[in-house]
Amino acid sequence: MELTHYLGEKARLIDKTLDNFLPHPSIKPESLHRAMRYSLFAGGKRLRPILCIAACEICGGKEKDALPVAAALECVHTYSLIHDDLPCLDNDNFRRGCYTAHKVFGEAIALLAGDALLTLAFEILAQAHPTLRYSPQMFLSELSRAAGSRKLIAGQVADLEGEGQKRGLSELYFIHRCKTSAMIVVSLRLGAMVANATPSNLASLTTFGENLGLAFQIVDDILDVTQTSGCLGKSAGKDVAAKKATYPALMGVGASRREAARFTCSARRAIESFGPRAKLLQKLAFFLLERKR
Ligand code: IPE
Ligand code: IPE
Ligand code: MG
Ligand code: MG
Ligand code: MG
Repeated sequence: MELTHYLGEKARLIDKTLDNFLPHPSIKPESLHRAMRYSLFAGGKRLRPILCIAACEICGGKEKDALPVAAALECVHTYSLIHDDLPCLDNDNFRRGCYTAHKVFGEAIALLAGDALLTLAFEILAQAHPTLRYSPQMFLSELSRAAGSRKLIAGQVADLEGEGQKRGLSELYFIHRCKTSAMIVVSLRLGAMVANATPSNLASLTTFGENLGLAFQIVDDILDVTQTSGCLGKSAGKDVAAKKATYPALMGVGASRREAARFTCSARRAIESFGPRAKLLQKLAFFLLERKR
């Protein structure tokens, strides 16, 4: 199947699943439920849930079994974006081609909508079915760790504390591994676990995700300096303005592109053991390297 067709099909299914899990906007408190849906359905590549489904399929599992887990992952990701955009963090006015949640609903409701999406993710995940190798507790533990104070949030803290500071490659690597790779890795791992993946397949997908995540964040940093806000659907040029520690700031755009390509090649190699079944994820990795938004 054509990659863009695959991505479109999966995104449609994920949106349908999310719509089923999200409280209806007429349910009290309406403002909160409207804000949750607003940010979730503003658009977005749905990369993490798509990776979850693709990992499930590559390990021989069924798409329908991965869908609730995929939806939970997108809830955590969207929460992280709502909070990332708040004035106390990156202070952004645009996201996914729309005004940010705090611009539309106010800071308090945006903050709470993020909280509620994060909590909803665990409610959804707690309903996951056990497989022979993996229990629902293992699913919950994987996501808690990835979204927790040693991974996603550690990355956000290091990113904030790095503003205006001189940061070297190893510190940048830490920021990217935590704030971006952790959620990408857990998306792949949970998808594989739904399919009762062997430990060796799980390990290959983990290495794939670590490298894909590093490449993904470098490209995000490059796009911030090379693209327009209109194309990105979020404000361009913000990293330079906030003096963020990024790859382009450290080594320039050309060398950053080469680094992103290098990580993408490492990602491709990590799943070669899957044989022809790896094609889709490998194509997706190179598609993300070339992306414009
Ligand atoms: C943005 O993620 C945050 C980063 C980790 C760079 P995405 O680029 O996947 O954002 P959406 O989900 O498509 O809006
Ligand atoms: C990733 O970093 C943010 C999260 C992990 C939530 P950025 O701050 O660079 O993401 P964008 O550019 O705002 O999407
Ligand atoms: Mg940020
Ligand atoms: Mg940001
Ligand atoms: Mg960015």
